[in-house]
Amino acid sequence: MALEAEAKHMVAQFEYTAEDVNKGVKEFIREMEEGLEKQGTSISQIPTYVTSVPNGTEKGVYLAVDLGGTNFRVCSITLHGNQSFSLQQTKVAVPRALMEAKTAHELFSFLAKQIESFLKAHHMDHFETHKNKPGEVEFFDLGFTFSFPVNQVGINKGRLMRWTKGFNIEEAIGQDVCGLLQKEIDALNLPVRVAALVNDTVGTLMARSYTSPGKTSTLIGAIFGTGTNGAYVEKLERVKKMKAIDEAEGGVPNYDSSTGLMVINTEWGSFDNALSVLPNTQYDIDLDRESVNPGIQMFEKRVSGMFLGEILRRALLSLYKHPDAGVALFKDTSSLDNDIRSTTTVADDSPLFKTWGIDTSFLSIVEEDHSDHLRITKQTLEKDLKVEAASTEDCVAVKMLVHAIGKRAARLSAVALAGVIISTNKLQEDEIVDVGVDGSLVEYYPGFEEYIREAFREIEGIGEDEKRIRIGLAKDGSGLGAALIALVAHNADQSM
Ligand code: BGC
Repeated sequence: MALEAEAKHMVAQFEYTAEDVNKGVKEFIREMEEGLEKQGTSISQIPTYVTSVPNGTEKGVYLAVDLGGTNFRVCSITLHGNQSFSLQQTKVAVPRALMEAKTAHELFSFLAKQIESFLKAHHMDHFETHKNKPGEVEFFDLGFTFSFPVNQVGINKGRLMRWTKGFNIEEAIGQDVCGLLQKEIDALNLPVRVAALVNDTVGTLMARSYTSPGKTSTLIGAIFGTGTNGAYVEKLERVKKMKAIDEAEGGVPNYDSSTGLMVINTEWGSFDNALSVLPNTQYDIDLDRESVNPGIQMFEKRVSGMFLGEILRRALLSLYKHPDAGVALFKDTSSLDNDIRSTTTVADDSPLFKTWGIDTSFLSIVEEDHSDHLRITKQTLEKDLKVEAASTEDCVAVKMLVHAIGKRAARLSAVALAGVIISTNKLQEDEIVDVGVDGSLVEYYPGFEEYIREAFREIEGIGEDEKRIRIGLAKDGSGLGAALIALVAHNADQSM
């Protein structure tokens, strides 16, 4: 029981109470509003130059690529104009070495080569005609989903502010990422024009608007996956800093201001970098210190998939190293009466001892486990962490910690969503507030949405109205969304 008591004590450190949630929402709204007024704030509130959302009647064939974390996807999307679409795609893992390459060329030429292979596989005629009779074929418009903080200055132009999610290519910072990709596409002589720069959250918002049922337009697109972030539809007049941005870019707005709307990429991963309201355990502190970007993305580091496994690993490790062997995890030496048990062993090369060794999928499996004696957790510990013959007591402790870390992440996610919903006054304006979500956490972590909803009900300004918030999965929405933005960009170009 000593282990369970110790685990309980650790779990208490991850508790994020209703009072904390409400404090969080107030600060979130304050930082959102500050971000609309000036540049260089904790929540960046980046204007995306997207000023309308689709309604499902759009048509055409578009290319989209998506760089946002572990994989790079290339797809072509055919919009049928009746809220439906078809999609062909390929996906490759981004080699680890390229995530931390010396030059931007190394990464972006890899991306262009994937586009070339995709065209050869799926649009060979187009590809060949362009090679043989240049000028005869139309260029494909491509939506580039690039899911990192970018200071956008036009629909297909934006300078990288900083890398996140383990990427770190110093040379690319400050450069226009569309220009970097176009240069490599041109070097391969491909009939492709980078027409739109899209954050995955904006893509998710667009995709959800295209496919969502009924007349209600979508307010938020949010990702809870490897990283976390949200984009939402803001009233242009509230984006106070827009005037200064327009002036810096030549004085005339290079977007359609007639809708009175602007989609804003919040980059909420950097909410409260100053840690004035975010929870902060020793595990959070240590993780941040050893990350590639200490002091930034502090919200993301408590919420998203890339980090939850690492928080858990650190918590488990500290329990494993507990000085009192009677309390420590995976140190079961008891041979119960009449029951000869093998002693728990943790292999020397166990991922438990390696930074980033635990994947979020581990948390999802353990959270889901309701088997007798947590048999599934036991097996997963063996398979994923090379822990042999963990006792049921060990598994109970692991499960308690998993639950605490996952639930805290969901409650923090509620803070961000509620912040946007309250700040935009949408519950007062509309009957239903629609939110499109994507990412491995919302999709696979058991109960994630329910924990978000539970927190919503505790928030002043939402409470019972939680029922009027509709959350829908926009699976792989960023590909479709990027195509939709490429379409908007194409149309805007034609009408100029
Ligand atoms: C990036 C965002 C992105 C989010 C989800 C974060 O790390 O900063 O731009 O939207 O991850 O992929």
